[in-house]
Amino acid sequence: MKTGMDAPFKDAENAALFQVLINTAVDGIIVIDAVGNVRLYNKACERLFGYVPEEVLGRNIKMLMPSPYREQHDGYIDAYRTTGERKIIGIGREVLGQNKDGSTFPMYLSVGEGRLENERIFVGIIHDITERHNAASRLQEVQSELAHVSRLNEMGQMTSALAHELNQPLTAIMNYLRAAQRTVTALDDPAVVRAREMMDKAAGQTTRAGEIIRRLRDFVEKRDARHAHEDVNKTIEEAISLALVGASDANIGVTLNFDRSIPPVLMDRIQIQQVVLNLVRNAVEALQEVSVRELTIKTGLEENGYVYASFSDTGPGLPDEVASRLFQPFVTTKEKGMGIGLSICQSIVNGHGGLLSATPNESGGTTFCFRLPAMDA
Ligand SMILES: Nc1ncnc2c1ncn2[C@@H]1O[C@H](COP(=O)(O)OP(=O)(O)O)[C@@H](O)[C@H]1O
Ligand SMILES: [Mg+2]
Repeated sequence: MKTGMDAPFKDAENAALFQVLINTAVDGIIVIDAVGNVRLYNKACERLFGYVPEEVLGRNIKMLMPSPYREQHDGYIDAYRTTGERKIIGIGREVLGQNKDGSTFPMYLSVGEGRLENERIFVGIIHDITERHNAASRLQEVQSELAHVSRLNEMGQMTSALAHELNQPLTAIMNYLRAAQRTVTALDDPAVVRAREMMDKAAGQTTRAGEIIRRLRDFVEKRDARHAHEDVNKTIEEAISLALVGASDANIGVTLNFDRSIPPVLMDRIQIQQVVLNLVRNAVEALQEVSVRELTIKTGLEENGYVYASFSDTGPGLPDEVASRLFQPFVTTKEKGMGIGLSICQSIVNGHGGLLSATPNESGGTTFCFRLPAMDA
């Protein structure tokens, strides 16, 4: 058969061309003989496997494979010789290679069979697919994160339905309490007076339960953005009570330091409450790791016309590995975290023409602060 090379090149040129070809190939090229001993090992292989040719030539190809393939390889060649069964020859597949330093890497190996004089040889072409593998595992991570987001979304819908269901018995309780109170209004027996006081308290608690449920429902319901002039302090207070649900046993001292004279801010109340909720929950989670657990929330007006709200905790501070990427999605140090809280906070605050920042406290811990443009007086 004539190849393109035969005509224009002489033997010496062919030899030179062959050298250039194998030395400049980006993929690894290895030739082995019928028992697996390496006859050719190109430059790209040095980079992939870390061995220089002298360390490999004449030795068995197994040395470039990790266990258990290393141990099985003689068997493969024998099986192919006796039965003709092809595992990889003439085909190609993803396998693992082993570097001199012991590390392994994924590679795509295709093997062709040929003859050199009268000997059977195998030519392997090795393509490093580490990058592709990394991208694939990243994709898998993102997919499982997405699955988590979608589970949370379902939960949100369930919460909304649950809140609706709970509202009915709560309304009924309230009605019974009122009726009971009316029934005994005229009686002044001391026991009845005491019972009436208790009924008052029960009514108060029922109202409170209704409020929590209403807020929860407001919070999880999907809705279009609604901008209105809102009282920042009140907005924050409501969100804090929601954020601290379940945190009562965490033994955290919460101090509110609100400037009651700040002007209203044009905002989507629920979105800003989401920011507060995320910041407070992050602080509560960070405070689990320390023994002095203080959270101070401050509001005020800056000279430049921005209203600010700051959240200072006495937690362990930002871990180094997240500090520079804090507001990027999927950055988390928590086993069950998703790492999207702060990125959402930032996009909400920016969407309001504001800024979100994080600074370490002098005495340890972290302060998160968001600033929103105040209404012009
Ligand atoms: N108040 C805080 N103190 C210390 N580290 C924090 C604080 N808030 C956030 N972080 C760090 O930032 C990371 C990202 O936070 P976030 O975006 O809310 O995602 P998640 O809470 O799901 O991890 C957290 O995993 C944590 O390491
Ligand atoms: Mg969070």
